[in-house]
Amino acid sequence: MITAEKIIKSPPLFISFEGGEGCGKTTQIKLLVDVLIKMGADVLQTREPGGSPEGKTLRSMLVEGDANRWDGLSELLLYSTERNEHLRQVVVPALDSGKWVITDRFADSTRVYQSTRGVPVETVQQINDLVVGDRWPQLTLILDIPTELGLERSLAINTHENRLESLGLEFHKKIRQGYLDIARENADRCVVIDASGSIDEVHAAVLSAVETYLTSKAA
Ligand code: TMP
Repeated sequence: MITAEKIIKSPPLFISFEGGEGCGKTTQIKLLVDVLIKMGADVLQTREPGGSPEGKTLRSMLVEGDANRWDGLSELLLYSTERNEHLRQVVVPALDSGKWVITDRFADSTRVYQSTRGVPVETVQQINDLVVGDRWPQLTLILDIPTELGLERSLAINTHENRLESLGLEFHKKIRQGYLDIARENADRCVVIDASGSIDEVHAAVLSAVETYLTSKAA
């Protein structure tokens, strides 16, 4: 169980939530943030795209409209521009001032989505390394859900922010596999969470992953 004592002893963590469309990140982030605040942590909840003032403008350009208004390379550059400002203006100052930072998506999204959009994975990784440097999250929780279920949920909730949802089932199956590949390659940072259960079940798995991290690495 996460205890207040463990939270207080832990240096502030940078945690990212990742996953395909409709995996329930937003709900789970809110539940985790509520627990952390109750335990006495100072927490910044943020997201990409849209976590910095400039990012809000970029967000609507990136998540609305026709799928092919940008090609993969333009997306890589735009999401990375947004991330650079998000880090510079929001994430790094918060971490440096002792806050926990919980972000809804980060550079793994670029690796998965923009490489699936046709940009060579080495190119994506070079830009990710350039922008992120040594500011990778300590813990990345990948919410994994069957693609059909996720797309169904996402299209039901989100009526206008669905530029990439419209790319179809095969594209999104590759996204799911891309996240599982990242988890395998970065086992020290990533935990895959089965997100097909109830909200409470997934929340329990999220808490357990944070607890395991605090016990094994940060204590
Ligand atoms: P979301 O905020 O609902 O998760 O949607 C953000 C959309 O932007 C989603 O389709 C994934 C996509 N995206 C990328 O393609 N690359 C990125 O680097 C990020 C952060 C998001």
